[in-house]
Amino acid sequence: MLVKYLAPAVVAIGAASAQTAAVPTATCTVSGGTTTVNSQADATGLANCRTVKGSVVVTKDVAGDFELSGPEIITGDLRIENNPNINSVGSDTLQMIGGEFSLTQLTQLNSINMLKLTSVSKLTWQSIGNAADMGMTQLNKVDEITISDSHLRNIDAINVTSIKSMNLDNNQFITKYEPAIKSISGDLTIQANGLDMEVSFPNLIWAMNMAVADVSKISFPSLQVVNGSARFDNNKFDSFSFPNLTQTKTGDISFVGNENMKNLTFPKLTQIGGGLLIANNTALTDNGDFPVLDTVVGAIKLRGNFTEVKFPKLQSVRGAFDLSSTNDVTNDCKTLAKMAPTTQGGNGEIEGTFDCQSNNKEANQDTSGKTGSGEGVTGGSGSDKTSGTKNSGAAGLSVNAGLFLAAAGVLAQLLL
Ligand SMILES: *[C@@H]1O[C@H](CO)[C@@H](O)[C@H](O)[C@H]1NC(C)=O
Ligand SMILES: *[C@@H]1O[C@H](CO)[C@@H](O)[C@H](O)[C@H]1NC(C)=O
Ligand SMILES: *[C@@H]1O[C@H](CO)[C@@H](O)[C@H](O)[C@H]1NC(C)=O
Ligand SMILES: *[C@@H]1O[C@H](CO)[C@@H](O)[C@H](O)[C@H]1NC(C)=O
Ligand SMILES: *[C@@H]1O[C@H](CO)[C@@H](O)[C@H](O)[C@H]1NC(C)=O
Ligand SMILES: *[C@@H]1O[C@H](CO)[C@@H](O)[C@H](O)[C@H]1NC(C)=O
Repeated sequence: MLVKYLAPAVVAIGAASAQTAAVPTATCTVSGGTTTVNSQADATGLANCRTVKGSVVVTKDVAGDFELSGPEIITGDLRIENNPNINSVGSDTLQMIGGEFSLTQLTQLNSINMLKLTSVSKLTWQSIGNAADMGMTQLNKVDEITISDSHLRNIDAINVTSIKSMNLDNNQFITKYEPAIKSISGDLTIQANGLDMEVSFPNLIWAMNMAVADVSKISFPSLQVVNGSARFDNNKFDSFSFPNLTQTKTGDISFVGNENMKNLTFPKLTQIGGGLLIANNTALTDNGDFPVLDTVVGAIKLRGNFTEVKFPKLQSVRGAFDLSSTNDVTNDCKTLAKMAPTTQGGNGEIEGTFDCQSNNKEANQDTSGKTGSGEGVTGGSGSDKTSGTKNSGAAGLSVNAGLFLAAAGVLAQLLL
């Protein structure tokens, strides 16, 4: 079937040179845009095509070792999916996949060998059996990556400078990753990989959103801006620092359930564009070090074994301030209460409800992003629920800035 589709194109476009040259030169345009490969013989039928215009889909009739040799470029997708019989996937010629490279639900896959592959628009590898080695030397252009539920031991071959999104989850043998990426324009998600996974992004300068869980070491020495939000849950690291982060533009910063974390430092952070949630990090005895933080656009919610809570430069919190500690923080609550809303006797720098509570044994049990439960409130009335907080955003702590701006716009118009 495949050969029938291809033959006219090969003859029409590539015949002259393809006959003499050892290297295939033909551009094979596939009718319907998709070449369906039902057997190794079908794949061999592509050997004369240097460029395959369209997508290649390998069906579950293909078993054993699958080899796609000849093509250097597939302009569309290469899809090998839902195939329990395929053992290996290889190509010694393929350099570029213009669309998606999907290896999905290949339970018997042992190896992937594409040593020449350097460029893929979207790489989606999910549930790929026992494949332990990427079999690639340098994948230096890829926009979107999902590697999920694999036995890969290392993904160092993925070495790009910028990327749209990256999702690494449930790869139990990946224990280290240190890519040279400088920017991430979408989501970075890392979770449930190797037990002691160490992650470092030495060159990362900005990232849209990041969510990292279950890692034992992490570092972002150059990160200056998070455009959206940053979330760190259930990690095993014993300290965390964003040495160069100055702001999150629109989203939350959240640390929940990082049980070994003793140290949390943000030496340059001045603004959080969403909310701040720090909860159930039971080894942390203070709220972290925020020496220059002055503005939080959302709410602040803190739950933990704190003996000390300090925000030395804080001047504006548009949402609620909601703190509860298993220990005694009465003195810090008194200091912070000066910023409470005027309705609670403060100077109004905190616009939402102010709650500050000591000696609450259950403090660590509330890890939700919602603020202002009103239970056992000290240091304020806790009854003013009409403040500007809205439970939206990753940790539910963002103020709805859109509404604020819309309202301000209407007001401005009325005044003109
Ligand atoms: C990644 O690429 C950079 C150049 O862009 C190179 O300096 C570095 O050694 C590469 N890293 C790996 C692990 O190959
Ligand atoms: C930290 O950010 C500044 C710019 O604000 C930059 O000049 C400096 O190189 C960065 N440090 C690191 C370690 O990347
Ligand atoms: C994120 O912020 C950085 C630094 O301000 C900026 O250069 C980049 O364009 C922003 N990215 C997006 C997707 O808005
Ligand atoms: C926290 O980090 C600082 C600076 O890196 C260090 O001096 C201090 O000992 C650390 N504290 C704890 C409890 O690990
Ligand atoms: C945190 O506080 C709880 C409740 O008081 C206590 O059971 C737990 O041992 C404390 N954890 C640490 C690491 O101090
Ligand atoms: C708090 O963290 C501990 C681990 O330190 C975990 O066992 C517990 O389930 C967490 N509690 C909540 C409410 O998430």
